[in-house]
Amino acid sequence: MDSSVKVVSLERVTSPLLAVALGELHSDKLPDSLLPLDAALSGAVAALLATGDFSGKRDEVAVLYPRSRATRLLLVGMGPDGEITRGAIRRAAAIAGRRALVAGAEALAFHVVPEARGGVSPAVLGQVVTEGAAQGAWSFTDFKAGDTKPKLSVLEIVASREERREIERGRVVGAAVAAGHVLARNLQALPGNVCTPAYLADVARRLGRAYGHRIAVLGRAQIAKEGMGGLLAVAQGTAQEPQFITLEYQGAGRRSAPVCFVGKGVTFDSGGISIKPSEKMEEMKYDMSGAAAVLGLFETLGHLKPNINVVGLVPATENLPAATAIKPGDVVRGHLGKTIEIVNTDAEGRLILCDALSYARRYGPACVIDAATLTGAVVIALGHHATGLMGNDDRLVEEVRLAGDRAGERCWPLPLWEEYREQLKSDVADLKNIGGRPAGSITAGWFLREFVAGYPWAHLDIAGTAYHDADRPDLARGPAGTGVRLFTELLLGRAGG
Ligand code: BES
Ligand code: MN
Ligand code: ZN
Repeated sequence: MDSSVKVVSLERVTSPLLAVALGELHSDKLPDSLLPLDAALSGAVAALLATGDFSGKRDEVAVLYPRSRATRLLLVGMGPDGEITRGAIRRAAAIAGRRALVAGAEALAFHVVPEARGGVSPAVLGQVVTEGAAQGAWSFTDFKAGDTKPKLSVLEIVASREERREIERGRVVGAAVAAGHVLARNLQALPGNVCTPAYLADVARRLGRAYGHRIAVLGRAQIAKEGMGGLLAVAQGTAQEPQFITLEYQGAGRRSAPVCFVGKGVTFDSGGISIKPSEKMEEMKYDMSGAAAVLGLFETLGHLKPNINVVGLVPATENLPAATAIKPGDVVRGHLGKTIEIVNTDAEGRLILCDALSYARRYGPACVIDAATLTGAVVIALGHHATGLMGNDDRLVEEVRLAGDRAGERCWPLPLWEEYREQLKSDVADLKNIGGRPAGSITAGWFLREFVAGYPWAHLDIAGTAYHDADRPDLARGPAGTGVRLFTELLLGRAGG
């Protein structure tokens, strides 16, 4: 999507859709800044408010069809002034983006009235409006015949002359984030027969060619040679070649320790021999959402070029039952050297992630953050409104949580207390891959921690937030691209911008 900042008064905006975001109104009096627009529309906005049909409550919308330069005027409510944050503005832009999609509008002009900015700076406004509009306008129609409806391709942020530069600065960041977010959601949306481990590797190579990232891909033989016994074990039940994908972005000096991101890339999770029930099994094409977030991040990095070094690691495979597949009771040795009793073949995410976590050592990382659709238990704990957050370093965990808040990707900490570790004790191996029903997300986190080799680490269990099965005002059902924004915010926080 092309985006830009336009200095123009609202009544002069020419667009198929002009959206104006405003806070909750306590009388039917218009914000002063809308008086010229209202006058140009012969009082139509004031007349709308007088009916009480629109008062600026959160998510409230009203559409007018004025005979003016803008064909449609959309008012979007953001709720009480005191609650207007960057998240509220991003959400309003996403609602407008969704409206543009439904209307088949190719262009959207978006304005936040100055009366309803909260404490949000012009730069942040430019960023979140751009992120939100792209989020709302996203749709995936690759496999639909005859889909000719135009898609939103132009965003104009309507601003005052004084704010133009700062909003533009943020818009550039938002456009980079949006590009990565879109890439992640498109990847998630692909079915398992298209988005295979080799497909993910091809996407990484394409990103490498486009932006100069260094990409390497290990296949089955090299994975075995590296001693990645966990990834190899899960992959022994599928005809698809597993791939261990590494991406390197260098934005700082060679000696500067990279931030490393690991993404679970199970392109379809049937459960393996411990097979899942067929109800909703098709959703397990989303089991590569962590990988999608990491690949999306490298799209964003290609645009943004922050002053920091970043490594991405994506262990990718399918998890299928087969004559060659792992069986409950099998024992394998992970990359770190520890032996693992595989009690349940459906706990495969941790088996592939543990190898990536110990592999990360060779980069001397400043920290490692993994994102994985790891446990159904996290959905029981937090539902679909927060990502489960764990780690071995309180400062990093808090840094990730704050990045998630800025990104509109809320995370909530779960404790990795020693007591939970007991649940992973095995009679035959160093540890087993499941810890029973109690605290299933935490024992999964503990399993990963056993393979973290001497660096600060945080784990994001995105099983409840990576995709949704119902529409929301600001987000269509389906893939949510979770992780891209959080990763970017974290990196921008570290790179000092
Ligand atoms: N990919 C699933 C987790 C999942 C569940 C993601 C629901 C999204 C929605 C993971 O590989 C898995 O199967 N986990 C098991 C672990 C159990 C066997 C200990 C689970 O959560 O049931
Ligand atoms: Mn599984
Ligand atoms: Zn899985």
